[in-house]
Amino acid sequence: MLGLSSDSILASRYARIVPPLQNAALVPQRTRSLAWQRFRKGICRTSCKNKLDESNNGAHVAVSRTADPHSVIVHDLRLQLGPPGAKRPVLNGVHLQVKRGSLHMLLGPNGCGKSTLLKVLGGLLVPNGGLVHTDQPSGFVFQNPDHQVVMPTVAADVAFGLGRYNLTEVEVSSAVQSALRLVNLEDFMYRATHTLSGGQRQRVAIAGALAENPKLLLLDELTTFLDREDQFGVLHAVRSIASAHHDVTAIWVTHRFEELRFADAASYMENGRVVFTGTPDEAKAFLRNLGAPV
Ligand SMILES: Nc1ncnc2c1ncn2[C@@H]1O[C@H](COP(=O)(O)OP(=O)(O)O)[C@@H](O)[C@H]1O
Ligand SMILES: [Mg+2]
Repeated sequence: MLGLSSDSILASRYARIVPPLQNAALVPQRTRSLAWQRFRKGICRTSCKNKLDESNNGAHVAVSRTADPHSVIVHDLRLQLGPPGAKRPVLNGVHLQVKRGSLHMLLGPNGCGKSTLLKVLGGLLVPNGGLVHTDQPSGFVFQNPDHQVVMPTVAADVAFGLGRYNLTEVEVSSAVQSALRLVNLEDFMYRATHTLSGGQRQRVAIAGALAENPKLLLLDELTTFLDREDQFGVLHAVRSIASAHHDVTAIWVTHRFEELRFADAASYMENGRVVFTGTPDEAKAFLRNLGAPV
């Protein structure tokens, strides 16, 4: 948590890490107050501690097993969702292993359970059964950057989640710079976020997650709304992060099969189960067998 009690201390601390912005008035008041509320509550993009819920049919989401080469191990994962009395199975016995340091793509038709699986891995949903082990902490980036990039400047947005830690100004600035370097946006530090392209905003959202040093990046259909240039800008950034950091794993949900060539491995889901896992070439053969134009 923030470790800071009064709003005034928060405000001054916040002011120090937010670089000046001449056209701050252009940022809607609603957006600014939403960001402020999130900052005050210490809500950030990384889910800090996944839950261990033994009361829930013994389903576990546990912490890192560094001796194991896998950053994610999922065994017979089951989850039902829906209103009380009308819950229906969404994950029906998922098995998945993801190698630490890899970029693992997750494919499958709409509604097959990809986002739900990602949310379980990120500790945002507690499963009803099965076993889940993940490296931690994890950082989640969603499809629409407008829901995540809420601060007026790039640097302020990337620093946003760091308000929860008791970091010095220098530490915050250094973490922000390193994260922006990783997504190739170092020169954009003082840019107003509303002037960025969709892909640049996605990279800012990724940098925001990276600033908190996650071991597992969960990336849900980031390129859906992007043009080709932005799509590959984001993909290159994630590819280079997974390549440069042997202890950082990225799980990339996509429906764009051309992105497979960036992956180390891929899985395909159907009806709440993983029905295939293999190399990108094996994945292409699998998809061709399904009749997909790959
Ligand atoms: N909170 C929820 N309550 C009820 N059903 C849900 C909820 N979230 C997702 N679902 C259902 O679970 C299924 C899988 O959803 P999702 O994981 O979002 O699929 P995907 O990401 O593969 O498109 C869908 O049929 C969806 O309607
Ligand atoms: Mg989805």
